[in-house]
Amino acid sequence: MKHFLSLQDIDSLPDWVNEAITLKKDPYQYKKMGQGKTICLLFFNNSLRTRLSTQKAAMHLGMEVMVMNFGNEGWALEYEDGTIMDQGTSEHIREAAQVVSQYADIVAIRAFAGLKDKAKDEAEEVLNGFAKFASIPIVNMESSTAHPLQALADAITLAENKTKDKPKVVLSWAPHPKALPHAVANSFVTLMKGQEVEFIIAHPEGYELNPQITEGCQIETDQEKALEDADFVYVKNWSSYSEYGQVLSKDSGWMMTKEKLGNAKFMHCLPVRRNVVVEDAVLNGNQSLVIQQANNRTYSAQIILKKLLEKL
Ligand code: CP
Repeated sequence: MKHFLSLQDIDSLPDWVNEAITLKKDPYQYKKMGQGKTICLLFFNNSLRTRLSTQKAAMHLGMEVMVMNFGNEGWALEYEDGTIMDQGTSEHIREAAQVVSQYADIVAIRAFAGLKDKAKDEAEEVLNGFAKFASIPIVNMESSTAHPLQALADAITLAENKTKDKPKVVLSWAPHPKALPHAVANSFVTLMKGQEVEFIIAHPEGYELNPQITEGCQIETDQEKALEDADFVYVKNWSSYSEYGQVLSKDSGWMMTKEKLGNAKFMHCLPVRRNVVVEDAVLNGNQSLVIQQANNRTYSAQIILKKLLEKL
């Protein structure tokens, strides 16, 4: 693995999940592996879990960590080649990526979709710009279209909690006042397509995800029907993909409730808006796995950093 940009960079998901679960029992067992190595975390967007769990994972491996809120504190970057830079951008990705490569051994990047221009978001100009011009490995800490560290943490959580060989997993859309990206849902769908599960995606009309990603998946617009006999319910909001970045519905009828959840385990990547996306009773109850998912972010990051360090 040269970079960790997507789930496709994982060569054997079951092995890596098992290795992460083993790491969790003794997180400092490889504390000498990262000695003398530095990771630079660049945030173009806000974070709680990704920032702290990736930092903790690096510390478990003995690495030095540098964190920069690039979105607020860095120079505005230019990604186009041949541009006359007499407008808002101050530094070209070519120089920025090469400069960071001299200060660190691995660079991890968070850069969300702008949700204004689908083609631009799908080009992943920040992540791919760094991958093109940096000379060190790149880790995706959530890009425009994917959140593979979250999906890997979700795979660990599912492995720890499943009680049958082929559980039923439902990814259900939920309402939200703001337009949110598709990255978490995309990566969860990609993850589920490779798992031994009965998988259903539930959303209102107009909220179809990228059909290239959901190809082959069962899709249901009747949430109640989708939730029947579910073992795991993963709830997430996303904005429309066809009417790109638009909020078409705020239907509170899609909020997850204790009654709708039945006996299923509840999953969400966090942060979550209480009593909009999911009611208090679910988050406060013992069927919620959200805190365990957040804990597993450390071990998903740690297994990825370990694999990259092994190749340095
Ligand atoms: N789930 C997740 O990525 O959380 P943060 O946005 O807080 O990092």
